[in-house]
Amino acid sequence: ELSPEEAAFQARIDGNIKIEPKDWMPAAYRKTLIRQIGQHAHSEIVGQLPEGNWVTRAPTLERKAILLAKVQDEAGHGLYLYCAAETLGISRDELMNKLHSGEMKYSSIFNYPTLTWADMGAVGWLVDGAAIMNQVPLQRTSFGPYARAMVRICKEESFHQRQGYSIMMSMVSGTPAQKEMAQDALNRFWYPALMMFGPSDKDSVHSDQSMAWKIKMNTNDELRQRFVNETVPQAHYLGLTIPDDDLVWNEETGNYDFSQPDWEEFKAVLKGNGPCNRERLGARIKAWEGGEWFRDGLAAYAEKAAKRRVA
Ligand code: ACO
Repeated sequence: ELSPEEAAFQARIDGNIKIEPKDWMPAAYRKTLIRQIGQHAHSEIVGQLPEGNWVTRAPTLERKAILLAKVQDEAGHGLYLYCAAETLGISRDELMNKLHSGEMKYSSIFNYPTLTWADMGAVGWLVDGAAIMNQVPLQRTSFGPYARAMVRICKEESFHQRQGYSIMMSMVSGTPAQKEMAQDALNRFWYPALMMFGPSDKDSVHSDQSMAWKIKMNTNDELRQRFVNETVPQAHYLGLTIPDDDLVWNEETGNYDFSQPDWEEFKAVLKGNGPCNRERLGARIKAWEGGEWFRDGLAAYAEKAAKRRVA
């Protein structure tokens, strides 16, 4: 049974009227948004690490400039999203502490290593491809600051996806060894990319309520299916093979049938036991601690400047 306030709130959501930071909202709506936007922001920031790994080793100056720009874009997305989360009444420091303590998650995908240059192609193509599949509908999410942040983020993600596909195009039209590297990268990133959409609908804890509140616009399985349908023809065009023997076009449903990722592996990664969890979190904590003197300096300067203005 909804209270009058809750009923009025739900009516706004159903009428596609955006909820703004100063509007009344149920405590659980606020909490879910802080969780999702915060985790999304953390994903953007931690997501810089696997690609940052290749900036100094990019094969050409042009590729280096593109990769550098892309990694910087991800930092921008993170900052945008932290701002959106802050409008809900949580501070940047609290969000950071929750990331570093392991209380808040970031996307499972960034706990996998990037072993070769072809991984820069696979990450852009598949990881950013999966990210856009999820983020385009979020432009219509019910919370105003989140929806607006998604508009710009999606434009940039679309460039990221294309740059990844462009790397894959170069690799597959290179030497046999380069084509093999591209196939190997696809083999390693395919299932982790499918995991990005979250557990199967039957195991998704938050989907029902989040969809009723339009915090999420689609279920995890819907978006995963959409991703497979769009990505398989792109793999064919590259002349690469999706590492799934059961992948087949289903005339009746108008979808590809495909194998599920290993959900036990997904759970292990979420628990902190993926191949790179410790390394990723360690790198973030080191950066945060290493930047403390700079944050302190900025704060001291801001305080002095404020005093001067008063005087
Ligand atoms: N990686 C890490 N954790 C995940 C993932 C994943 N790929 N998928 C689901 N989970 C977690 C959820 O956070 C939740 O745990 P929590 O209660 O501790 O937060 C649990 O698994 C159960 O999943 P759901 O109930 O399905 O969770 P939710 O409704 O939040 O759906 C989803 C997950 C689809 C990722 C959603 O949060 C979302 O759309 N987020 C915004 C997009 C985003 O974060 N993208 C980041 C990846 S890529 C990038 O942009 C750089």
